[in-house]
Amino acid sequence: MNLTALADTAQAMVASGKGLLAMDESIGTCNQRLADAGIAATGENRRAWRELLLTAPGLGASISGVILADETIRQATTGGTPFVGVARDAGLLVGIKVDTGAHGMAAHGGEKVTEGLDGLRERLQTYFALGARFAKWRAVLAIDDTRLPTDACIDANAHALARYAALCQEAGLVPIIEPEVLMDGPHAQARCQDVTDAVLRSVFRQLAWQGVVLEAMILKPNMVVAGLACPGQNSAQEVADATLQCLRRVVPAAVPGITFLSGGQSGEEASARLNAMQAATRLPWPLSFSFGRALQHPALTIWAGQAAQRVAAQQALLQRARCSAAAAHGSYSAAMETP
Ligand code: 13P
Repeated sequence: MNLTALADTAQAMVASGKGLLAMDESIGTCNQRLADAGIAATGENRRAWRELLLTAPGLGASISGVILADETIRQATTGGTPFVGVARDAGLLVGIKVDTGAHGMAAHGGEKVTEGLDGLRERLQTYFALGARFAKWRAVLAIDDTRLPTDACIDANAHALARYAALCQEAGLVPIIEPEVLMDGPHAQARCQDVTDAVLRSVFRQLAWQGVVLEAMILKPNMVVAGLACPGQNSAQEVADATLQCLRRVVPAAVPGITFLSGGQSGEEASARLNAMQAATRLPWPLSFSFGRALQHPALTIWAGQAAQRVAAQQALLQRARCSAAAAHGSYSAAMETP
């Protein structure tokens, strides 16, 4: 393990206010997103969509790296250039989602545990050889007002995240550690904060036990928000304050960066909330983004599978990337939304 190289990669992922574009949806999820936008869910449309994203001109001005899926890392543009080469030429680090999805947890109705550890050591070697320099594993925690998530689900997912992270570092890949407390439900923000606190404590306990080097990882948490069905939604400042209080209490200063997921927030909400966090002083880590839907959604709607819409869709992606990067600098304002 070359810790210096790993730490350099981790720092490059959050350098100068840039963030990550998550475009690593599984085949099933990507098909669903295409279908929701009225686009035929075919392998060629998945490839064409990913080509559109990766070839957006100047993407590297706001984005430091892209997270690909197993299908995507092996694909190429219509002209035959491998996607990995396109990313490199655009100055983007290549990442790879390596979990195999969240599956129902036995004896724990309504909860899931993320799988993918079997054979992971060998798969990581393959991905490194293909050009990946960082990886992602996402755990999902369902939340309600009383019962969920259970301690068993929290600990099982934290254990798997730490085992994945240790294997990544052994293979020369920086692990993105993504324990996502979901936004579904009517719970208040305080409940999300309690649960996020418990989840992150378990994750960092497991990381310590399993020998993961904190300087060579990236944390990808949820923001601390009320459930989508909660009637009392919070302001951007309230989200920023609760999120930072939670992270400051639990995340060691040795972690080189925190990149938030968007989790179902709109691009505008995610940018405003990330921006509000940048006003805080003496934060131990840079705060940036690793958004999927908040970067992709407007572009996908505009593209609609039509070649004639390609340029407009790329402009919509670049607009969201610029707003997100401005938020990571603390220079975002709502005025940026009306170019
Ligand atoms: P969202 O920003 O859409 O939550 O996606 C981020 C991600 O990578 C989920 O694993």
